Amino acid sequence: MSTSTGAVLDAPALWPAQAHVPSVVGRQLVIERGEGSYIVTADGRRLFDGTAGLWHANIGHSRPELAEAAAEQMRRLETYHIFGRFVNDQALTLADRLSALSPIPDSKVILNSGGSDAIDVACKLARRHWQREGRLDKRVILSRQFAYHGLHAFGTSIAGLDFNREGYGGESLVPETARIPLHDLDATIELIAEIGADRIAAVVTEPIQGTGGVHPPQEGYLRRLADICEANDILLILDEVITGFGRTGTMFAAERFGVTPDLLTFAKGVTSGYAPLGGVLVGARIWQPFYRDDADTPIFRHGATYAGHATACAVAMRNLDVLEQEALLPRVKDLESQMVDGLDALAARNPSVREVRVCGFLGGVSLVDTVDAVRVADALIDVGFVSRPLRGNTLQLSPPFITTDDELRDYIDAIDATVTAEAQ
Ligand SMILES: Cc1ncc(COP(=O)(O)O)c(C=O)c1O
Repeated sequence: MSTSTGAVLDAPALWPAQAHVPSVVGRQLVIERGEGSYIVTADGRRLFDGTAGLWHANIGHSRPELAEAAAEQMRRLETYHIFGRFVNDQALTLADRLSALSPIPDSKVILNSGGSDAIDVACKLARRHWQREGRLDKRVILSRQFAYHGLHAFGTSIAGLDFNREGYGGESLVPETARIPLHDLDATIELIAEIGADRIAAVVTEPIQGTGGVHPPQEGYLRRLADICEANDILLILDEVITGFGRTGTMFAAERFGVTPDLLTFAKGVTSGYAPLGGVLVGARIWQPFYRDDADTPIFRHGATYAGHATACAVAMRNLDVLEQEALLPRVKDLESQMVDGLDALAARNPSVREVRVCGFLGGVSLVDTVDAVRVADALIDVGFVSRPLRGNTLQLSPPFITTDDELRDYIDAIDATVTAEAQ
């Protein structure tokens, strides 16, 4: 598709900063409505949301009970900040509830506006921890090859997808970061020795790598990584922005994989996207020094006007109610086994499918080089289904948890037919 320079320059004022502008101008999908697992475009197309937006719409779109929770809270108090002596009741209640759900025992909760924010807080707090301990050289943040941790300053700096990290005039936007391989723990141990454990503050990892192509951890990977961190006095930050709140069938993937991180970041699923909210679950060893009853006790000094936004917190609580009342975590387990069966059968019958990977209700379908996942995702829209091309010529499948058995089967069938048509 080519568009004249004039038309590109005359495009709408909204800069889609995660798009190649000339490729999308004139063909943007304007989403006007949501209906459960479907979205509806301004020109009336109804699409099955097979990615749950950006892995966020876990309970489905446009649910009235969530709108009511927001409206009710806004009528009482839209929000009030949590600086100094001030706090709001919704932030307090939500933090208690999250702490009770947390896989980190006795955690405190820092609340902010999304996943990139949460990553900034976690990395900043990891560095701060070691500075406060007097271990001044422990500043390097390690992340995995192909990782995605959002695009604020730290997320950009620790990006494992190089194109997200490059272009800012230095080794990384925030200095002192390095990448470890996707799966190879022996090489990780070597790299830690090379850099020096006394220079490394933390390792950040997604439990299941999402944007990098849907890569579940290899058997025992996360537990062994946690052991390596512990042996080297390196903090483990688990980025559960995608996996948190049920995507793997447990509340957090940490439970599924049997690891206890020092810090855990969350966002998306905490509100299913009904309000911008994210945060960090913080282990006792990190928070306790900031809670000592002493005049010398330091202040972390991190905050924002909308940290603990009361309406976002009220919406999060209603979202957590829905997860519980509709037993959506057990449903995710059921959907996972259907996705495993469906995608295994797809890989067996469709020669254009190179590999399928499923963990939780989260799947990746990697295609052979001759079939372009970008074109397949485009063609899928024409037949009423949303997928997303990820790194490695891979299609993302992460539908809402309210997806029916029939909808999942139709989605996989549509992928099969579309891949076959593109392979002709
Ligand atoms: C693993 C992970 N971390 C962080 C982020 C950033 O979250 P947000 O887009 O809410 O800033 C994302 C977003 O997709 C993500 O997948």
